[in-house]
Amino acid sequence: MSDNQSTKRLWRDVRVFDGHNTLPERMAVIVEGERVTNLTPMSRLDEALASECREMGRGGVMTPGLVDCHTHLVFGGGRADEFEKRLEGASYEEIAQAGGGILSTVRSTREASEEELFEVAVPRLQAMIADGMTTVEIKSGYGLTVEDELKMLRVARHLGETLPVRVTTTLLGAHALPPEFQDDSDGYIDLVCHEMIPAAAKQGLVDAVDVFCEKIAFSVAQCERVFQAAREYGLPIKAHAEQLSNLGGTTLAARYGALSADHIEYLDEAGVAALREAGSTAVLLPGAFHTLRETKLPPIAALREAGVPIALATDANPGSSPIFSPTLMLNFACILFRLTPQEALAGMTAHGARALGRNELGRIYVGGPADLCLWNIDTAAELAYAVQAGRLKQRIFRGEVSHE
Ligand code: NIG
Ligand code: FE
Repeated sequence: MSDNQSTKRLWRDVRVFDGHNTLPERMAVIVEGERVTNLTPMSRLDEALASECREMGRGGVMTPGLVDCHTHLVFGGGRADEFEKRLEGASYEEIAQAGGGILSTVRSTREASEEELFEVAVPRLQAMIADGMTTVEIKSGYGLTVEDELKMLRVARHLGETLPVRVTTTLLGAHALPPEFQDDSDGYIDLVCHEMIPAAAKQGLVDAVDVFCEKIAFSVAQCERVFQAAREYGLPIKAHAEQLSNLGGTTLAARYGALSADHIEYLDEAGVAALREAGSTAVLLPGAFHTLRETKLPPIAALREAGVPIALATDANPGSSPIFSPTLMLNFACILFRLTPQEALAGMTAHGARALGRNELGRIYVGGPADLCLWNIDTAAELAYAVQAGRLKQRIFRGEVSHE
């Protein structure tokens, strides 16, 4: 244990957003080792205890470290050319059907070595870390062969071992149909179920399994086969569902006890009820909504009314959301989806962690992990209100100040 870790560390007079709410009084927060050990209103701070601590900061707003529960940040190449095509009027689906889109990134990701993929992912992840993120989910899905999917997952794991961030990995083999299976999508699903999932599970490379349930991707029946295979290996599931149409992927995912259904712009009332019954989290991705100039809003009011937890994520990827800023998503979620700033922040902390099955993260509580952010602002709402870099005063990761 380093000197720093053996000392109690104190933050005084901070406004605390605990993952769900802003606490009414200004607080003192004490961290020992990797845990928060004291969370006390300033009016009740024991000064004898305080004198045993090293004072780390005073004032500002403290939130849990941000949790980005849906990213595709490991990929080769870029898609600025498609961005231009879309500006000229081509749709995301048209580009995909012409062999571009996800498949264009598949080509560049297959060509890249593990080391190259790692090197290009580092600055993306560093930018998100500098924006206050302490936990990130990273999906595969641009390899689409057993070896290339495992390569992506190894890169994701390696990123988590190298940088001060918790990484969870998700196998998204059923993301798009690779060209070598063009007339045999069921054959490709066989590969995902019988080879990819078993290999990733046996090598300890995967924490969850995801699918893209959509006309341009895989059917409900095919996604169900993937979920069954995941279940055989004890892996939790997630789904990209109801992004471009209402196919029923969310209801299927809920039947399999999904951690989350993500995108869900086209989700109907029955789908919302299915999420509620399953206790799944709805993950909203305003970066993709914005980038694709989507106009169909996810059913926010129905989700709220049903009490379905709403998480928020960047969906950082080279096509539908080339955006590597979690705090920008707070702003987008309020402006585009009319979430309240508190809802948006809960979406990127407590509810984001829940969407990963990591309920112990994304919250500030006594005994909880000291993954924290101290912001140079007066109210938590300011994080969503202004789009402004440089407000992160300290980022505390596993009890250590990793950014100042
Ligand atoms: O979450 N919806 C499918 N997959 C990604 C997009 C990936 C891409 O366009 O490269 C998404 O939006
Ligand atoms: Fe995605």
